[in-house]
Amino acid sequence: MSTTIYYFSGTGNSLAVARELSNSFGSTKVIPISKAITGEIDLSADKIGLVFPVYIWGAPLIVCDFIAKLKQADKYFFSVVTYGGSPGKTNIQIKKLLKLQGIELKAGFAVHMPGNYIPMYGAREKAVQDKLFEKAKTKIAEIAQYVSSGKTGTFEVGGLVMNLLGSTLQSMGSKSMRKADKNYLADEKCNACNICEKICPVKNIKMQDSKPVWQGNCEQCMACIQWCPQEAIQHGKNTAGRARYRHPQVKATDFLN
Ligand SMILES: Cc1cc2nc3c(=O)[nH]c(=O)nc-3n(C[C@H](O)[C@H](O)[C@H](O)COP(=O)(O)O)c2cc1C
Ligand code: SF4
Ligand code: SF4
Repeated sequence: MSTTIYYFSGTGNSLAVARELSNSFGSTKVIPISKAITGEIDLSADKIGLVFPVYIWGAPLIVCDFIAKLKQADKYFFSVVTYGGSPGKTNIQIKKLLKLQGIELKAGFAVHMPGNYIPMYGAREKAVQDKLFEKAKTKIAEIAQYVSSGKTGTFEVGGLVMNLLGSTLQSMGSKSMRKADKNYLADEKCNACNICEKICPVKNIKMQDSKPVWQGNCEQCMACIQWCPQEAIQHGKNTAGRARYRHPQVKATDFLN
């Protein structure tokens, strides 16, 4: 039984989940959506997983674009979303988007991980993160068991209030997301190392006069701001001095283009 997992990840949570699932499945390819979307998408595996973070109670735009490129395939498709507070109805959104391509989502899961949205909050303390990772480990083992046995019908969503609120905010917020990179800037700590340019999954950063310049096609994945070794990237006025977050088992080199 072969499996391919397509993932999107800015700070490593979804990549770590994709890797842990692949370890449980055996013969599994783990492929970044940002690369797969640029070519012919391989759907030859028996099981196809989509693993990615929740953005504004929905799927990242690049994941929606990726799904729109998929050709009809009668395979066992499953989704795993990682989230920091509430996953909203992201798995239902994915089910609907796949249906438009003639694909049936067999199951959708949600894994609670540390939040990474630094414009609103800094990284939680290590003890809190470790507790979440411990719980996630158990959850991932359960998901692996479910998918391996070929069961269907589970579609995990958030609580009722956040789902209602989230659906409205999602449709409003996601439209302006790509252009919203005008809030990023590199401060005087920038030493022109180029890592942000190399790490951006959609090549939205170009170095000009030894400073990063954002190009208006941002996925808001937080990779640039969270991985900058100098903590030189800021989002508006609130992020200076806020603790950065990266999944501890993932390295910057895992993201390099
Ligand atoms: C732009 C953006 C929007 C987010 N929106 C939500 C949200 O609506 N609900 C939630 O629970 N977490 C939200 N988060 C937190 C991420 O879903 C969570 O930290 C995720 O595990 C990050 O995955 P990654 O490390 O693979 O990038 C958001 C993060 C970002 C960057
Ligand atoms: S990663 Fe940070 S230090 Fe390196 S070029 Fe980008 S902003 Fe500057
Ligand atoms: S510019 Fe930064 S936040 Fe936007 S997609 Fe690239 S790495 Fe992610």
